Amino acid sequence: MRDGLGRLQRVVLLGGTSDIGRAIVDRVVATRGVAEVVLAGRDRDGLERGAAELTATGVAVSVVALDARDPGEVVAAAVDECLQAPTDVVVHAIGMLPHDDRDGVAPGLAAAVFDVNTTGSGVMLLAAARRLQDQGHGTLVALSSVAAVRARPDNLVYGAAKAGYDALARGLADQVRGSGARVLVVRPGFVHSSMTATHDVAPLARQPEDVAAAVDRALDRPDRPGATVVWVPAAMAAVALGIRLLPGRALAAAARRIADDPDADHHQGGASGNDAAADLGADPGARP
Ligand SMILES: NC(=O)c1ccc[n+]([C@@H]2O[C@H](COP(=O)([O-])OP(=O)(O)OC[C@H]3O[C@@H](n4cnc5c(N)ncnc54)[C@H](OP(=O)(O)O)[C@@H]3O)[C@@H](O)[C@H]2O)c1
Repeated sequence: MRDGLGRLQRVVLLGGTSDIGRAIVDRVVATRGVAEVVLAGRDRDGLERGAAELTATGVAVSVVALDARDPGEVVAAAVDECLQAPTDVVVHAIGMLPHDDRDGVAPGLAAAVFDVNTTGSGVMLLAAARRLQDQGHGTLVALSSVAAVRARPDNLVYGAAKAGYDALARGLADQVRGSGARVLVVRPGFVHSSMTATHDVAPLARQPEDVAAAVDRALDRPDRPGATVVWVPAAMAAVALGIRLLPGRALAAAARRIADDPDADHHQGGASGNDAAADLGADPGARP
């Protein structure tokens, strides 16, 4: 519960080692005087390192084991453990991105992407939203993606998995409205992080801190239907509209041209590998 000065008392990060998730937590700790943080995830050493960093800033930190691929009851119980005490903000930042969908994703990897991004993460959103609704306050920040607006040929499995996640998060935003709790659905384009470190950098790429700043601003916005979705950068909303409206053949051609482009500017942040799509109005800055 926020104290009399509006400071946040307790923040939970599901995906405690996520670069974007940590940037959001660091931001609210710096700007909103958070007293306690819970880091949940499967990488115990990574979580302990994060806990040590946050503890050094004067925050009380605890660590909870959470694996998105565990059975639903186990996942939900872990989320409940994180939310035992009244909590102001829950950030869900768990996900996995296969390297390239264009040649097809191996069945086992495709199953893992759906398991992590949709099934396990969906169970977490359900459990967290229920707890916030029951306590009558708090914000659930769900890290979706611009990829959720359309499963593109170059991003098929991830996009489809995120579409399910995004639909659930938006539905939960409607479900909890009026209870005092709220859900923010965050849709970044390409963000520099561990997840994208070996991927081609797309136009409009941003840093985790940019996502954190957008989330920080959105936390203060009044809860109304139009304020549920947070695009990062804001221009990504128009890009997503283009991606949604582009005919399927044009989208597939853009993906092929990107794949065939011998000048593709891997990892440099240049636009050369993405010009083909940009020509067609499908700015692939939206890749993740
Ligand atoms: N980076 C982008 O361009 C981008 C764009 C749009 C949306 N997003 C979304 O933003 C979120 C955060 O991504 P990020 O960029 O911060 O990537 P990241 O640093 O790689 O973080 C991904 C997180 O997911 C966790 N994770 C993966 N599989 C898991 C599992 N089975 N159980 C529990 N945790 C698991 C990772 O934990 P481990 O440390 O244990 O692997 C890590 O904490 C994701 O949902 C991603 O889809 C990212």
